[in-house]
Amino acid sequence: MLIVKNIAECRREREKLGRVAFVPTMGALHAGHLSLMALARRHAPKVAVSIFVNPTQFGPKEDYTKYPRPVESDLEKCEQAGVDMVFMPPPEEMYAPGMAELVVDLPQLSSVLEGKHRPGHFRGVCQVVAKLFNIVTPNVAFFGQKDFQQLRILTAMVEALNLPIEVIPGPTVRDPDGLAMSSRNQYLSPTERERALAINRGLFLAAGEFKEGVRQANRLVTTVQHVLLEQHLSIDYVASVDPITLKHADQVNGPTVLAVAARVGNTRLIDNVVVG
Ligand code: PAF
Repeated sequence: MLIVKNIAECRREREKLGRVAFVPTMGALHAGHLSLMALARRHAPKVAVSIFVNPTQFGPKEDYTKYPRPVESDLEKCEQAGVDMVFMPPPEEMYAPGMAELVVDLPQLSSVLEGKHRPGHFRGVCQVVAKLFNIVTPNVAFFGQKDFQQLRILTAMVEALNLPIEVIPGPTVRDPDGLAMSSRNQYLSPTERERALAINRGLFLAAGEFKEGVRQANRLVTTVQHVLLEQHLSIDYVASVDPITLKHADQVNGPTVLAVAARVGNTRLIDNVVVG
């Protein structure tokens, strides 16, 4: 497995690879990332992964400096997953001093849900992914459905910029008890982790009500809210939205995303299910 640590080397090595499937990550790899890598394997003979904790997508009060960076074990996991190239650029090269600020924004999609609670977050995500796409020039790229708004925005960005890259979603991977895998789960104490299960429990309860015939989205949202409040989680939002426009959906007439962001102690978690 090739480990490349600067942009010029990445471009040189990428040239030799032919068709490339790309999994951008911020490291702290878990089974969710590994499932994206396995999916990537099925779409191209060569798989590239980037590990880069992107400073521009963190708000001033967020966890950029304490975000986990277990580099050695991440590289081992990539090796075991059969990754061909890992790109780990230094932040000073991605954002060289004096480099003009670049704004890539899709305001209709980035100002709601996560974007409302984390102003500037998706600008940072689009900025770094546009740069990574330019450097790695993959044929196909993979993003997890847990971050469904990110997936939607990056798909729209590729379309709006006419990039010749296919974006493929990977299903949310869950622990056996149902908690969606996230690098931030490691911040949870055992009791907080127990309480965090209210998120997936609430979402699955609502999905069950949908199966039993409930079509009013606000009833499904209320169900989720109740379960979260029982565990005293602090709710940023529980929403029902159209998966393409991300606009509020009143009724479940077609695919509808029930999305949650909530805090357990100091840890902010997100999750979602699609109904309809
Ligand atoms: O989902 C992530 O890990 C990040 O937002 C991404 C897409 C790698 C951009 O930094």
